[in-house]
Amino acid sequence: PVSGKHGPLVGAVDQGTSSTRFLVFSAGTGEVLTYHQEEVAQLYPQEGWVEQDSLELLKTVLTCIHKTVENLRSLKIDPADIKAIGITNQRETTIVWDKTTGQPLYNAIVWLDARTASTVEAILKVTPGQNKDYVKDLCGLPITTYFSALKLRWLFDNVKEVQEVAGRGNLLFGTVDTWLLWNLTGGLEGGLHVTDVTNASRTMLMNIKTLNWDANLCKFFNIPMAVLPEIRSSSEIYGYITKGPLLGVPISGVLGDQQAALVGQMCLSRGQAKNTYGTGCFLLYNTGTQIVQSEHGLLTTIAYKLGKNTETIYALEGSVAIAGAAVRWLRDNLNIIKTSADIEPLAMSVKDSGGVYFVPAFSGLFAPYWRTDARGTICGLTQGSTGAHLARAVLEAVCFQTREILDSMQKDSGIVLNKLQVDGGMTSNNTLLQLQADLAGVPVVRPSMTETTALGAAMAAGAAEGIGVWDLTKLKPLTTDDFTPSIMPEEREQRYERWCMAVKRCMDWEL
Ligand code: G3P
Repeated sequence: PVSGKHGPLVGAVDQGTSSTRFLVFSAGTGEVLTYHQEEVAQLYPQEGWVEQDSLELLKTVLTCIHKTVENLRSLKIDPADIKAIGITNQRETTIVWDKTTGQPLYNAIVWLDARTASTVEAILKVTPGQNKDYVKDLCGLPITTYFSALKLRWLFDNVKEVQEVAGRGNLLFGTVDTWLLWNLTGGLEGGLHVTDVTNASRTMLMNIKTLNWDANLCKFFNIPMAVLPEIRSSSEIYGYITKGPLLGVPISGVLGDQQAALVGQMCLSRGQAKNTYGTGCFLLYNTGTQIVQSEHGLLTTIAYKLGKNTETIYALEGSVAIAGAAVRWLRDNLNIIKTSADIEPLAMSVKDSGGVYFVPAFSGLFAPYWRTDARGTICGLTQGSTGAHLARAVLEAVCFQTREILDSMQKDSGIVLNKLQVDGGMTSNNTLLQLQADLAGVPVVRPSMTETTALGAAMAAGAAEGIGVWDLTKLKPLTTDDFTPSIMPEEREQRYERWCMAVKRCMDWEL
């Protein structure tokens, strides 16, 4: 292989809800040179439960690294040019393992999992005023099923082995970044038990002002602090890979996937925002060094802290649980499409949704409602409704949910976005993006390089102190495709009103 052909390279592990990928970027051009992707299975052991096999998550990461290195060799690129690796991951997903065996004590409880509804209820019962925002000042988040603290509490309450191993002082907790880092940096032989500030900000246990685990929050959720990883910045050398074809390469960037996309979209100034359409849909709005507490159902979260001694940047976040997952549902449960990409021609085969509105509240509704009792609803069916109308309604649902978030964001920040930067798997669907522009009434801008999540992690890794192969001050904006609104405001508002009616109908379902 020819060394240095593309200058220094940076790798990024992207462990998402649906798949794992490893991508290699040229640090000079920001181009993806090659990648490998593996699907990951989701397990649904009971209604509302979503799990993954943590060992499978790890295995897919190792396979992706191996296959990508093989790709590099066949492209005659020297894998030794990889100078650093970043990790980005599905957030909140909760893993516990025994540090003396390296074995997980339970499947990973995925962020979407709603089993903790009763845990939430029990906690709220003893919370002053039964106020779900009781600890929001400390952690920026409402008490709901989504965040890791609730999932970890459930594990302590329901899995005997978790209690026992914790009692022996051997229990480790981690989000997916922590689990991967521990394993990649040595596992049983000295693996590092660390996380970054963005992932830690999704546990509900970190104080968003001090960036430390908060004793009051841990007490509130009854979580022993000894099981928690050390919190670090999102860009620094954490440790080195101890096995495999990238032995000795430093891991120097960690960001939750939504925060990584914000960085990858180069939303590094206050007032910039991006929306990522994956399994769910997540709009993050950079609020700079200011902590903005939402009055309209948004989360306050850490956007990034790119280095030990750099300032902490915050974001307001609108989280939508179901976006791409609704397309998967059409494919796997209703079988009306064969592949996810088939939704676009099917939706385009009709001129509108024929009055069909679909609220995909499969596991309740996230922002701005935070209602665990909501369930999926289809309204407006007629004798003439077809699969094509439903497909269109699914795409529209993603857009309406984004519109709700934009409205909240506007109310909280007082700022109207003049464009919506988008990315994520679903954004290859032009119909979706045109609908989004129409239904939100804002131009939608898609970068031609859509690997922004992995790019963000690679940027954090490549720019870390001691690595320095990526210069964040010399970023060139990505080239884009733009979609402009094409319907009249009256029509937009009328359709949105209908959507709001459908949302009302899906509440109070689960008693
Ligand atoms: O908070 C959950 C989020 O990080 C999952 O992202 O891309 O797997 O839908 P994604």
